[in-house]
Amino acid sequence: MPVNIIIGSQWGDEGKGRITDLLASKSDIVARFSGGDNAGHTVTVGEEIFKLHLVPSGVVHDNAICLLGGGVVINPQSLLREFKGLEERGVDISPNKIKISRKAHLITPGHLALDAAAELRRGDDKIGTTLRGIGPAYTDKTARSGIRSHLMASPEVLANIVHKHITETNDVLRFVYGADELDADAIAAEYHEYAQILAPYLVDEAALLYGAMDADKLILAEGAQGTMLDLDHGTYPFVTSSHPIASGALLGLGLGPKSAERIIGVAKAFSSRVGSGPFVTELDGEQALTLRGTGANPWDEYGTTTGRPRRVGWLDLVVLRYAGRINSFTELVLTKMDILTGIDPLPVCVAYDFNGETLRYFPSDPETLAQCKPIYVELPGWREDISQAKVWADLPVNAQAYIEFVSKETDTPVSIVSVGPERTQTIMRE
Ligand code: GDP
Ligand code: IMO
Ligand code: MG
Repeated sequence: MPVNIIIGSQWGDEGKGRITDLLASKSDIVARFSGGDNAGHTVTVGEEIFKLHLVPSGVVHDNAICLLGGGVVINPQSLLREFKGLEERGVDISPNKIKISRKAHLITPGHLALDAAAELRRGDDKIGTTLRGIGPAYTDKTARSGIRSHLMASPEVLANIVHKHITETNDVLRFVYGADELDADAIAAEYHEYAQILAPYLVDEAALLYGAMDADKLILAEGAQGTMLDLDHGTYPFVTSSHPIASGALLGLGLGPKSAERIIGVAKAFSSRVGSGPFVTELDGEQALTLRGTGANPWDEYGTTTGRPRRVGWLDLVVLRYAGRINSFTELVLTKMDILTGIDPLPVCVAYDFNGETLRYFPSDPETLAQCKPIYVELPGWREDISQAKVWADLPVNAQAYIEFVSKETDTPVSIVSVGPERTQTIMRE
Protein backbone atom coordinates (compact mmCIF):
# COMPACT_ATOMS: atom_id res chain seq x y z
CA MET A 1 0.00 0.00 0.00
CA PRO A 2 1.37 3.43 -0.83
CA VAL A 3 2.13 6.50 1.21
CA ASN A 4 0.07 9.70 1.29
CA ILE A 5 1.94 12.90 2.07
CA ILE A 6 0.56 16.12 3.55
CA ILE A 7 2.65 19.22 2.80
CA GLY A 8 2.36 22.88 3.72
CA SER A 9 2.39 24.87 0.49
CA GLN A 10 3.11 28.31 1.94
CA TRP A 11 5.04 29.46 5.06
CA GLY A 12 3.54 26.99 7.54
CA ASP A 13 0.33 27.11 9.60
CA GLU A 14 -1.83 26.22 6.59
CA GLY A 15 -3.92 23.80 8.64
CA LYS A 16 -1.83 20.65 8.11
CA GLY A 17 -2.72 19.36 11.59
CA ARG A 18 -6.46 19.47 11.03
CA ILE A 19 -6.17 17.83 7.59
CA THR A 20 -3.86 15.15 9.00
CA ASP A 21 -6.45 14.49 11.70
CA LEU A 22 -9.12 14.19 9.01
CA LEU A 23 -7.18 11.69 6.90
CA ALA A 24 -5.77 9.82 9.92
CA SER A 25 -9.10 8.07 10.44
CA LYS A 26 -8.33 5.93 7.39
CA SER A 27 -4.57 5.58 8.00
CA ASP A 28 -2.64 2.91 9.90
CA ILE A 29 0.48 4.96 10.60
CA VAL A 30 0.78 8.75 10.83
CA ALA A 31 4.40 9.87 10.67
CA ARG A 32 6.12 13.20 11.17
CA PHE A 33 9.20 13.32 8.93
CA SER A 34 10.93 16.65 9.57
CA GLY A 35 11.22 19.59 11.94
CA GLY A 36 10.63 19.43 15.65
CA ASP A 37 8.63 21.34 18.22
CA ASN A 38 8.93 24.49 16.12
CA ALA A 39 5.72 23.08 14.60
CA GLY A 40 2.35 23.84 16.16
CA HIS A 41 -0.50 21.80 14.72
CA THR A 42 -4.06 22.38 15.84
CA VAL A 43 -6.71 19.66 15.84
CA THR A 44 -10.25 20.65 16.83
CA VAL A 45 -12.73 17.93 17.74
CA GLY A 46 -16.05 19.32 18.96
CA GLU A 47 -15.21 21.72 21.78
CA GLU A 48 -11.77 20.20 22.32
CA ILE A 49 -8.68 21.86 20.89
CA PHE A 50 -5.39 19.91 20.74
CA LYS A 51 -2.18 21.82 20.05
CA LEU A 52 0.47 19.36 18.93
CA HIS A 53 4.14 20.13 18.47
CA LEU A 54 5.97 16.81 18.13
CA VAL A 55 3.30 14.15 18.47
CA PRO A 56 1.71 13.44 15.06
CA SER A 57 -1.80 14.79 14.58
CA GLY A 58 -3.15 11.25 14.16
CA VAL A 59 -2.90 10.75 17.92
CA VAL A 60 -6.50 11.77 18.56
CA HIS A 61 -7.72 8.74 16.58
CA ASP A 62 -7.51 5.29 18.15
CA ASN A 63 -6.58 3.45 14.98
CA ALA A 64 -3.31 5.03 13.88
CA ILE A 65 0.18 4.38 15.20
CA CYS A 66 2.08 7.68 15.47
CA LEU A 67 5.73 7.76 14.43
CA LEU A 68 8.32 10.46 14.99
CA GLY A 69 10.43 9.70 11.95
CA GLY A 70 14.18 9.73 11.41
CA GLY A 71 14.20 13.24 9.94
CA VAL A 72 12.69 14.75 13.09
CA VAL A 73 14.62 16.57 15.82
CA ILE A 74 13.23 15.85 19.29
CA ASN A 75 13.46 17.89 22.45
CA PRO A 76 12.73 15.16 25.04
CA GLN A 77 11.59 17.66 27.66
CA SER A 78 9.10 19.15 25.24
CA LEU A 79 7.92 15.70 24.12
CA LEU A 80 7.32 14.58 27.70
CA ARG A 81 5.40 17.79 28.43
CA GLU A 82 3.23 17.07 25.42
CA PHE A 83 2.74 13.44 26.54
CA LYS A 84 1.61 14.67 29.95
CA GLY A 85 -0.90 17.12 28.49
CA LEU A 86 -2.35 14.45 26.20
CA GLU A 87 -2.47 11.80 28.91
CA GLU A 88 -4.39 14.17 31.19
CA ARG A 89 -6.99 14.42 28.45
CA GLY A 90 -7.29 10.67 28.13
CA VAL A 91 -5.25 10.29 24.94
CA ASP A 92 -3.19 7.10 24.63
CA ILE A 93 0.49 8.02 24.66
CA SER A 94 1.81 4.53 25.42
CA PRO A 95 4.65 2.96 23.40
CA ASN A 96 1.98 0.88 21.65
CA LYS A 97 0.58 4.06 20.17
CA ILE A 98 3.63 6.31 19.77
CA LYS A 99 6.98 5.29 18.29
CA ILE A 100 10.26 7.18 17.97
CA SER A 101 12.62 6.34 15.12
CA ARG A 102 16.06 5.34 16.36
CA LYS A 103 17.44 7.67 13.67
CA ALA A 104 15.78 10.84 14.97
CA HIS A 105 18.12 13.39 16.57
CA LEU A 106 17.84 14.92 20.03
CA ILE A 107 17.69 18.61 20.84
CA THR A 108 19.46 19.71 24.02
CA PRO A 109 19.52 22.90 26.11
CA GLY A 110 22.83 23.54 24.31
CA HIS A 111 20.95 23.83 21.00
CA LEU A 112 18.36 26.11 22.60
CA ALA A 113 21.07 28.39 24.00
CA LEU A 114 22.89 28.53 20.64
CA ASP A 115 19.64 29.36 18.81
CA ALA A 116 18.98 32.25 21.20
CA ALA A 117 22.56 33.52 21.10
CA ALA A 118 22.72 33.43 17.29
CA GLU A 119 19.41 35.28 16.96
CA LEU A 120 20.59 37.93 19.43
CA ARG A 121 23.83 38.35 17.48
CA ARG A 122 21.92 38.75 14.19
CA GLY A 123 20.16 41.83 15.63
CA ASP A 124 17.97 43.49 12.97
CA ASP A 125 18.80 40.68 10.55
CA LYS A 126 17.35 38.03 12.82
CA ILE A 127 15.48 35.11 11.21
CA GLY A 128 12.77 35.18 13.83
CA THR A 129 13.21 31.52 14.69
CA THR A 130 10.93 29.78 17.16
CA LEU A 131 13.96 29.54 19.53
CA ARG A 132 13.40 25.79 19.83
CA GLY A 133 17.02 24.92 18.97
CA ILE A 134 16.06 23.56 15.54
CA GLY A 135 18.86 25.17 13.51
CA PRO A 136 21.69 24.18 15.88
CA ALA A 137 20.37 20.60 16.17
CA TYR A 138 20.32 20.14 12.38
CA THR A 139 23.71 21.86 12.17
CA ASP A 140 25.14 19.23 14.54
CA LYS A 141 23.47 16.47 12.54
CA THR A 142 25.02 17.72 9.29
CA ALA A 143 28.40 18.14 10.99
CA ARG A 144 28.08 14.50 12.12
CA SER A 145 28.21 15.42 15.76
CA GLY A 146 24.48 15.10 16.44
CA ILE A 147 22.98 12.97 19.18
CA ARG A 148 20.77 10.22 17.80
CA SER A 149 17.76 9.00 19.71
CA HIS A 150 18.91 5.35 19.64
CA LEU A 151 21.40 6.34 22.35
CA MET A 152 18.45 6.52 24.73
CA ALA A 153 18.59 2.72 24.80
CA SER A 154 21.82 3.13 26.82
CA PRO A 155 21.18 5.95 29.34
CA GLU A 156 24.76 5.92 30.70
CA VAL A 157 26.27 6.28 27.25
CA LEU A 158 23.79 9.02 26.35
CA ALA A 159 24.53 10.93 29.55
CA ASN A 160 28.27 10.86 28.78
CA ILE A 161 27.74 12.07 25.23
CA VAL A 162 25.39 14.84 26.36
CA HIS A 163 27.93 15.90 28.99
CA LYS A 164 30.66 16.18 26.35
CA HIS A 165 28.34 18.03 23.95
CA ILE A 166 27.31 20.58 26.61
CA THR A 167 30.94 21.11 27.65
CA GLU A 168 31.87 21.83 24.03
CA THR A 169 28.81 24.03 23.52
CA ASN A 170 29.83 26.03 26.59
CA ASP A 171 33.07 26.98 24.82
CA VAL A 172 31.07 28.40 21.93
CA LEU A 173 28.58 30.14 24.21
CA ARG A 174 31.35 31.71 26.23
CA PHE A 175 34.03 32.54 23.67
CA VAL A 176 31.91 33.25 20.57
CA TYR A 177 28.78 34.78 22.06
CA GLY A 178 29.85 35.89 25.53
CA ALA A 179 26.76 34.08 26.82
CA ASP A 180 26.17 32.21 30.09
CA GLU A 181 27.44 28.64 30.32
CA LEU A 182 25.17 25.67 30.99
CA ASP A 183 25.45 23.09 33.77
CA ALA A 184 26.75 20.00 31.97
CA ASP A 185 26.37 17.71 35.00
CA ALA A 186 22.74 18.63 35.56
CA ILE A 187 21.82 18.34 31.88
CA ALA A 188 23.57 14.97 31.53
CA ALA A 189 21.59 13.70 34.54
CA GLU A 190 18.37 15.05 33.01
CA TYR A 191 19.01 13.18 29.73
CA HIS A 192 19.79 10.01 31.68
CA GLU A 193 16.28 10.27 33.08
CA TYR A 194 14.63 11.09 29.74
CA ALA A 195 16.34 8.05 28.23
CA GLN A 196 14.85 5.75 30.83
CA ILE A 197 11.36 7.05 30.13
CA LEU A 198 11.61 7.23 26.35
CA ALA A 199 13.64 4.11 25.50
CA PRO A 200 10.50 1.91 25.26
CA TYR A 201 9.24 4.16 22.46
CA LEU A 202 12.26 3.53 20.21
CA VAL A 203 11.58 1.63 17.02
CA ASP A 204 13.42 0.56 13.92
CA GLU A 205 11.71 2.80 11.39
CA ALA A 206 12.51 0.63 8.38
CA ALA A 207 11.01 -2.48 9.97
CA LEU A 208 7.89 -0.58 11.02
CA LEU A 209 7.26 1.21 7.72
CA TYR A 210 8.32 -1.48 5.24
CA GLY A 211 6.49 -4.08 7.33
CA ALA A 212 3.36 -1.94 7.20
CA MET A 213 3.68 -1.48 3.45
CA ASP A 214 4.13 -5.21 2.93
CA ALA A 215 0.98 -5.78 4.97
CA ASP A 216 -0.98 -3.35 2.79
CA LYS A 217 -1.31 -0.74 5.50
CA LEU A 218 -1.75 2.95 4.75
CA ILE A 219 0.94 5.41 5.84
CA LEU A 220 0.21 9.11 6.15
CA ALA A 221 3.24 11.43 6.26
CA GLU A 222 2.47 14.65 8.13
CA GLY A 223 4.45 17.65 7.01
CA ALA A 224 5.56 20.39 9.37
CA GLN A 225 6.43 23.98 8.37
CA GLY A 226 5.85 24.79 4.69
CA THR A 227 7.46 24.70 1.25
CA MET A 228 8.59 28.34 1.41
CA LEU A 229 10.51 27.55 4.62
CA ASP A 230 12.49 24.74 2.95
CA LEU A 231 16.22 25.05 3.58
CA ASP A 232 17.09 24.87 -0.13
CA HIS A 233 13.97 26.02 -1.93
CA GLY A 234 12.44 28.53 0.48
CA THR A 235 13.27 32.18 0.99
CA TYR A 236 16.82 31.53 2.25
CA PRO A 237 18.13 32.52 4.79
CA PHE A 238 14.66 33.11 6.24
CA VAL A 239 13.86 29.42 6.33
CA THR A 240 13.96 26.52 8.73
CA SER A 241 16.86 24.04 8.76
CA SER A 242 15.04 21.02 7.33
CA HIS A 243 13.12 19.96 4.24
CA PRO A 244 9.37 20.32 4.75
CA ILE A 245 8.68 19.31 1.12
CA ALA A 246 7.51 16.00 -0.39
CA SER A 247 11.06 14.84 -1.12
CA GLY A 248 11.82 15.64 2.54
CA ALA A 249 9.08 13.21 3.53
CA LEU A 250 10.76 10.44 1.54
CA LEU A 251 14.16 11.40 2.93
CA GLY A 252 12.96 11.73 6.51
CA LEU A 253 11.20 8.37 6.52
CA GLY A 254 13.56 6.41 4.28
CA LEU A 255 11.03 5.86 1.50
CA GLY A 256 11.58 5.69 -2.25
CA PRO A 257 10.05 8.20 -4.68
CA LYS A 258 7.67 5.62 -6.11
CA SER A 259 6.05 4.97 -2.75
CA ALA A 260 4.13 8.25 -2.80
CA GLU A 261 0.58 8.15 -4.10
CA ARG A 262 -1.37 11.21 -2.96
CA ILE A 263 0.76 14.30 -2.38
CA ILE A 264 -1.60 16.75 -0.75
CA GLY A 265 -0.69 20.43 -0.66
CA VAL A 266 -2.44 22.28 2.13
CA ALA A 267 -2.93 25.96 1.33
CA LYS A 268 -4.58 28.67 3.32
CA ALA A 269 -7.08 30.69 1.25
CA PHE A 270 -4.86 33.72 1.95
CA SER A 271 -1.17 33.93 2.99
CA SER A 272 0.52 34.10 6.38
CA ARG A 273 4.08 34.06 7.64
CA VAL A 274 5.71 34.21 11.08
CA GLY A 275 9.25 35.47 11.47
CA SER A 276 11.30 37.59 9.06
CA GLY A 277 11.73 37.33 5.30
CA PRO A 278 10.20 38.46 2.02
CA PHE A 279 6.42 38.34 1.61
CA VAL A 280 5.24 39.91 -1.65
CA THR A 281 1.49 40.05 -0.91
CA GLU A 282 1.85 41.22 2.71
CA LEU A 283 -0.80 43.61 4.04
CA ASP A 284 -0.88 45.98 6.96
CA GLY A 285 -3.49 48.09 8.74
CA GLU A 286 -7.22 47.31 8.62
CA GLN A 287 -6.98 44.77 5.80
CA ALA A 288 -4.39 42.77 7.73
CA LEU A 289 -6.56 42.84 10.82
CA THR A 290 -9.49 41.41 8.85
CA LEU A 291 -7.39 38.39 7.85
CA ARG A 292 -5.45 38.05 11.11
CA GLY A 293 -8.29 38.58 13.57
CA THR A 294 -7.82 40.18 16.97
CA GLY A 295 -6.89 37.00 18.79
CA ALA A 296 -10.39 36.56 20.20
CA ASN A 297 -10.96 33.32 18.22
CA PRO A 298 -8.72 30.28 18.65
CA TRP A 299 -8.14 30.20 14.86
CA ASP A 300 -6.98 33.83 14.62
CA GLU A 301 -3.51 34.27 13.14
CA TYR A 302 -1.29 34.10 16.22
CA GLY A 303 1.47 31.46 16.35
CA THR A 304 0.47 28.10 17.85
CA THR A 305 4.01 27.62 19.17
CA THR A 306 5.15 31.15 20.00
CA GLY A 307 1.93 33.21 20.19
CA ARG A 308 3.47 35.79 17.82
CA PRO A 309 1.01 37.67 15.56
CA ARG A 310 1.38 36.23 12.07
CA ARG A 311 2.05 38.49 9.10
CA VAL A 312 -0.81 38.14 6.62
CA GLY A 313 -1.53 38.92 2.97
CA TRP A 314 -3.60 37.95 -0.05
CA LEU A 315 -3.31 34.55 -1.67
CA ASP A 316 -0.15 34.26 -3.76
CA LEU A 317 -0.51 31.92 -6.74
CA VAL A 318 3.14 32.40 -7.75
CA VAL A 319 3.97 30.67 -4.46
CA LEU A 320 1.35 27.96 -4.96
CA ARG A 321 2.50 27.18 -8.51
CA TYR A 322 6.09 26.94 -7.26
CA ALA A 323 5.02 24.66 -4.41
CA GLY A 324 3.11 22.51 -6.91
CA ARG A 325 6.24 21.99 -8.99
CA ILE A 326 8.55 21.26 -6.06
CA ASN A 327 6.17 18.82 -4.44
CA SER A 328 4.34 17.25 -7.42
CA PHE A 329 1.03 17.91 -5.70
CA THR A 330 -1.69 15.54 -6.82
CA GLU A 331 -4.26 17.77 -5.12
CA LEU A 332 -4.70 20.91 -3.07
CA VAL A 333 -6.65 21.43 0.13
CA LEU A 334 -7.89 24.97 0.70
CA THR A 335 -8.35 25.98 4.35
CA LYS A 336 -9.84 29.01 6.11
CA MET A 337 -12.20 29.84 3.25
CA ASP A 338 -14.63 31.08 5.92
CA ILE A 339 -12.26 33.93 6.81
CA LEU A 340 -12.69 35.46 3.35
CA THR A 341 -16.45 35.87 3.85
CA GLY A 342 -17.45 39.52 3.57
CA ILE A 343 -14.33 40.68 1.69
CA ASP A 344 -15.38 41.98 -1.71
CA PRO A 345 -13.60 42.13 -4.08
CA LEU A 346 -10.95 39.50 -3.29
CA PRO A 347 -7.48 40.21 -4.70
CA VAL A 348 -5.42 37.16 -5.73
CA CYS A 349 -1.81 37.54 -6.84
CA VAL A 350 -1.25 35.83 -10.22
CA ALA A 351 2.26 37.08 -11.07
CA TYR A 352 4.98 39.45 -9.89
CA ASP A 353 6.06 42.72 -11.47
CA PHE A 354 9.85 42.94 -11.38
CA ASN A 355 10.82 46.39 -12.66
CA GLY A 356 8.33 46.16 -15.50
CA GLU A 357 8.96 42.49 -16.24
CA THR A 358 6.15 40.01 -15.44
CA LEU A 359 7.36 36.98 -13.47
CA ARG A 360 5.16 33.88 -13.23
CA TYR A 361 7.87 31.79 -11.57
CA PHE A 362 9.09 32.38 -8.02
CA PRO A 363 12.51 34.09 -8.16
CA SER A 364 15.25 32.41 -6.17
CA ASP A 365 17.30 35.34 -4.97
CA PRO A 366 16.15 37.69 -2.21
CA GLU A 367 17.33 40.81 -4.04
CA THR A 368 14.95 40.16 -6.95
CA LEU A 369 12.16 39.17 -4.58
CA ALA A 370 12.54 42.38 -2.59
CA GLN A 371 11.78 44.39 -5.73
CA CYS A 372 8.78 42.31 -6.82
CA LYS A 373 5.32 43.85 -6.64
CA PRO A 374 2.18 41.71 -6.71
CA ILE A 375 0.02 41.70 -9.83
CA TYR A 376 -3.54 41.10 -8.65
CA VAL A 377 -6.70 39.81 -10.25
CA GLU A 378 -9.80 40.84 -8.32
CA LEU A 379 -12.42 38.15 -7.85
CA PRO A 380 -15.96 38.83 -6.59
CA GLY A 381 -16.48 38.01 -2.90
CA TRP A 382 -19.48 36.57 -1.01
CA ARG A 383 -21.36 37.58 2.13
CA GLU A 384 -23.09 34.35 3.14
CA ASP A 385 -21.83 32.46 6.21
CA ILE A 386 -20.15 29.35 4.79
CA SER A 387 -18.99 27.81 8.07
CA GLN A 388 -21.81 25.24 8.04
CA ALA A 389 -21.41 24.27 4.38
CA LYS A 390 -21.20 20.49 4.09
CA VAL A 391 -21.14 19.87 0.35
CA TRP A 392 -19.87 21.78 -2.69
CA ALA A 393 -23.37 22.93 -3.62
CA ASP A 394 -23.71 24.67 -0.21
CA LEU A 395 -20.98 27.15 -1.18
CA PRO A 396 -21.96 30.47 -2.77
CA VAL A 397 -21.17 30.67 -6.49
CA ASN A 398 -18.40 33.23 -5.89
CA ALA A 399 -16.71 30.98 -3.30
CA GLN A 400 -16.85 28.13 -5.82
CA ALA A 401 -15.38 30.45 -8.46
CA TYR A 402 -12.52 31.46 -6.12
CA ILE A 403 -11.63 27.79 -5.58
CA GLU A 404 -11.94 26.95 -9.28
CA PHE A 405 -9.67 29.92 -10.09
CA VAL A 406 -6.99 28.57 -7.73
CA SER A 407 -7.35 25.13 -9.25
CA LYS A 408 -7.05 26.42 -12.82
CA GLU A 409 -4.09 28.72 -12.10
CA THR A 410 -2.17 25.97 -10.32
CA ASP A 411 -3.32 23.21 -12.66
CA THR A 412 -4.17 21.11 -9.60
CA PRO A 413 -7.56 19.85 -8.41
CA VAL A 414 -8.82 21.12 -5.06
CA SER A 415 -9.98 17.97 -3.26
CA ILE A 416 -10.96 19.31 0.16
CA VAL A 417 -12.24 22.72 1.23
CA SER A 418 -12.21 23.66 4.89
CA VAL A 419 -14.69 26.23 6.20
CA GLY A 420 -13.90 26.16 9.93
CA PRO A 421 -11.41 24.58 12.32
CA GLU A 422 -13.61 21.73 13.51
CA ARG A 423 -13.13 18.23 12.13
CA THR A 424 -16.54 18.21 10.43
CA GLN A 425 -16.22 21.66 8.85
CA THR A 426 -14.87 20.20 5.64
CA ILE A 427 -16.21 19.73 2.16
CA MET A 428 -14.81 16.63 0.47
CA ARG A 429 -15.00 16.84 -3.30
CA GLU A 430 -15.15 13.78 -5.50
P1 GDP B 1 -0.61 23.86 10.89
O1 GDP B 1 0.65 24.29 11.55
O2 GDP B 1 -0.50 23.83 9.41
O3 GDP B 1 -1.17 22.58 11.43
O4 GDP B 1 -1.70 25.01 11.24
P2 GDP B 1 -1.94 25.71 12.67
O5 GDP B 1 -2.69 24.77 13.53
O6 GDP B 1 -0.68 26.28 13.21
O7 GDP B 1 -2.80 26.96 12.25
C1 GDP B 1 -4.02 26.82 11.59
C2 GDP B 1 -5.10 27.49 12.46
O8 GDP B 1 -6.28 27.64 11.68
C3 GDP B 1 -5.52 26.64 13.65
O9 GDP B 1 -5.95 27.48 14.68
C4 GDP B 1 -6.68 25.83 13.10
O10 GDP B 1 -7.58 25.40 14.10
C5 GDP B 1 -7.33 26.86 12.22
N1 GDP B 1 -8.04 26.33 11.05
C6 GDP B 1 -7.72 25.31 10.22
N2 GDP B 1 -8.59 25.24 9.20
C7 GDP B 1 -9.48 26.25 9.38
C8 GDP B 1 -10.60 26.73 8.65
O11 GDP B 1 -10.97 26.22 7.59
N3 GDP B 1 -11.25 27.82 9.16
C9 GDP B 1 -10.89 28.43 10.32
N4 GDP B 1 -11.58 29.49 10.73
N5 GDP B 1 -9.83 28.00 11.03
C10 GDP B 1 -9.14 26.94 10.56
P1 IMO C 1 4.02 24.54 11.43
O1 IMO C 1 4.36 23.08 11.32
C1 IMO C 1 5.17 28.68 10.72
C2 IMO C 1 9.44 29.60 10.93
C3 IMO C 1 9.88 30.51 12.07
C4 IMO C 1 11.05 31.22 11.41
C5 IMO C 1 11.68 30.13 10.55
C6 IMO C 1 12.86 29.44 11.22
O2 IMO C 1 3.19 24.87 12.60
O3 IMO C 1 3.46 25.05 10.14
P2 IMO C 1 13.06 27.66 13.20
O4 IMO C 1 12.63 27.74 14.63
O5 IMO C 1 12.43 26.53 12.43
O6 IMO C 1 14.54 27.70 13.02
O7 IMO C 1 12.52 29.04 12.55
O8 IMO C 1 10.65 29.17 10.32
N1 IMO C 1 8.68 28.40 11.35
C7 IMO C 1 7.37 28.26 11.19
N2 IMO C 1 6.43 29.14 10.75
N3 IMO C 1 4.81 27.43 11.06
C8 IMO C 1 5.74 26.53 11.48
O9 IMO C 1 5.43 25.24 11.71
C9 IMO C 1 7.07 26.95 11.60
N4 IMO C 1 8.21 26.35 12.00
C10 IMO C 1 9.19 27.24 11.82
O10 IMO C 1 8.85 31.39 12.42
O11 IMO C 1 10.57 32.22 10.52
MG1 MG D 1 1.33 25.72 12.92
